[in-house]
Amino acid sequence: MKTSMSAPRTVITGTGHYVPPRIVTNHDLEKVMNTSDEWIRERSGIVERHHVEPGVTTSDLAVEAARRAMADARIDPSTVDFVIAATLSPDHYFPGIGVLIQAKLGLGTTGALDVRNQCSGFIYALSVGDQFIKTGQYKRILLVAAEVQSGVLDYSDKGRDMSVLFGDGAGAVILEPSSSEDDRGILSTHLYADGHFASHLWMEKPSAADHPTFQQSFFDDGRFFPRMEGRNVFVNACQRMPEAIRAGLDHNGLALEDIDALIPHQANDRISLQVAKGLKIPLEKVIRNIDRYGNTTAASIPIALDEAVKDGRIKRGDLVAIAAFGSGYTWASAFLRW
Ligand code: UT7
Repeated sequence: MKTSMSAPRTVITGTGHYVPPRIVTNHDLEKVMNTSDEWIRERSGIVERHHVEPGVTTSDLAVEAARRAMADARIDPSTVDFVIAATLSPDHYFPGIGVLIQAKLGLGTTGALDVRNQCSGFIYALSVGDQFIKTGQYKRILLVAAEVQSGVLDYSDKGRDMSVLFGDGAGAVILEPSSSEDDRGILSTHLYADGHFASHLWMEKPSAADHPTFQQSFFDDGRFFPRMEGRNVFVNACQRMPEAIRAGLDHNGLALEDIDALIPHQANDRISLQVAKGLKIPLEKVIRNIDRYGNTTAASIPIALDEAVKDGRIKRGDLVAIAAFGSGYTWASAFLRW
């Protein structure tokens, strides 16, 4: 998927993020389940996360992040010609959040696509948007990744391995064709999946296998809660993210030393540290904010990207590597010249 000489390169011209104001600390969680601030910090690096108030939806967070990205790109919403939304926690079973974002932003009949690739959702969506820009079909894409996960987590002791990790939030970028001859833009995306591991990190119910789909016994047995085989996810994340990064480096003829900033999906700080250590990437180049947000799934990378760009850790001309791993299993990398 490397950009050919004749095709335009896709550039991120604006970034934005939004998290709901309510902060939930590890100490807050100690009050509702058998956990401790010490355990959560040591095992994940998380100190706090944000949760929505009841009534606030994924598309609400997405719209706020989208507005900030559009303001950053200095564009009027009416000029967006396609919307791509990545989430595992849509407002409704159907339709997806893309159409809800489109309507809330007043985008007329602009097309809207939902991407369902969980923690890898942002990179998968970035790759889709990149193809549309390179073919010339669209010239200004709003790509937004958002999650409201706080409402579906199991806050009993049975679900504590997951409920302490996840948070709510949204991140957005604007994609446009490069207007200059410099080398800015998306250099490559590499996407992978292995559906044999689907049940290792999933929300089993509701399932189309069941007639009727919604049954009281599923509620009683807690089968509407997401579940994870944490150690297996951990081990695979530590292996697959470096593989995807190396694939991107090989594809672009680049070396590990060329990377100026690495944004790993913020799933667990121990995973980020292990990926960096395995690749011998110095920690000052690794963007990490999981301590403040927890794991915001598809939104984690665009939130971290926005923060790093705004505070100057990512500068014009930097080589930025991003990588993700999560439910599916799916995993992916992308390389950008900022
Ligand atoms: O975005 C991608 C999706 N998710 C991930 O990438 C997460 C990947 N996995 C992980 O991050 C880690 O596996 C966890 C943070 C989920 C768990 O850390 P761990 O070091 O693998 O712990 P563990 O699952 O081996 O559990 C160790 C102990 C267990 O108790 P016993 O059996 O040793 O008595 C758990 O029951 O920790 C217990 N435990 C907890 N204790 C306090 C699990 N969750 C908690 C908790 N508070 N919240």
